[in-house]
Amino acid sequence: MLVSLKELLSQCQKNKTAVTAFNVYNLETILSVNQAANNLNQPVIFSFGESYLDDVPMDLIALNIRFLAEQSDQSMVLHLDHAKNLSTIKRAVDCGFTSVMYDGSHLSIEENIKNTRTVVEIARKAKVSVEGELGYMNPEDGSLHNESGAVDHSEFTRPEMALKYVTETGVDALAIAIGNAHGLYQGEPHLEFSVLTEIAALTDIPLVLHGSSGIPEDQIKKAINFGICKINVNTELALGAVESIRQSIKMSPEVNSLRYEKLIRQTKADLVLLIEKYLKLTRN
Ligand code: 13P
Repeated sequence: MLVSLKELLSQCQKNKTAVTAFNVYNLETILSVNQAANNLNQPVIFSFGESYLDDVPMDLIALNIRFLAEQSDQSMVLHLDHAKNLSTIKRAVDCGFTSVMYDGSHLSIEENIKNTRTVVEIARKAKVSVEGELGYMNPEDGSLHNESGAVDHSEFTRPEMALKYVTETGVDALAIAIGNAHGLYQGEPHLEFSVLTEIAALTDIPLVLHGSSGIPEDQIKKAINFGICKINVNTELALGAVESIRQSIKMSPEVNSLRYEKLIRQTKADLVLLIEKYLKLTRN
């Protein structure tokens, strides 16, 4: 069934658990996420990014996900990821998304608050949840934040700013920067748990960890214990699908020996396994 992010994450906050949001951009990624969630009897979040709009119409994605969610016994959220434009948010609300993320993390706090308030106003009327972001990470495509690739401490979410942002906007969930980054990590990632603890204590709101691909299991579990209610995964699936295709082609190198239907079937099967790995991390 289709539910709002607020509904799902408030349960998680109560039970100290989390739900995984997987980025989807075609039928294969959508079907794989759906199958994995149904296989394991777990809730899941389908996350469609504003950056995919050039590749696929939003309505088409929404129709597919809503159809599958309505057939499933699992709680499923149709979420818009990293929207920087109000027009995208409005379209998502019209398409039946049950959650939108407004990403104003590149703006000044005042501007971020002002724009987020507008988003909350639009979303509330349609009973759509809103995720905001404070603190700055690298771009969603995983490109480097700076030359060394290190996540800059000065751009971590500041707890007192998080309190101000949450109070003044009324968002339902907050994405934070505590050492997490999109894409492949340069070396072992280290989440700053003292900052997470402070933000969780001050804001008392479900917190979101972007850039969860590649964060060691023990750190993800600790983060969930400390207030993270949603983990976002994209890179591991995006790279995993390509690796699956590479292997399929390697095993059938002759021209005409591999059909697209078969290639897709294998890729989906490999994606389901990767998705299940992350779903198990957030299991009760
Ligand atoms: P990764 O691509 O690093 O898994 O991050 C995904 C994400 O945070 C999407 O919003």
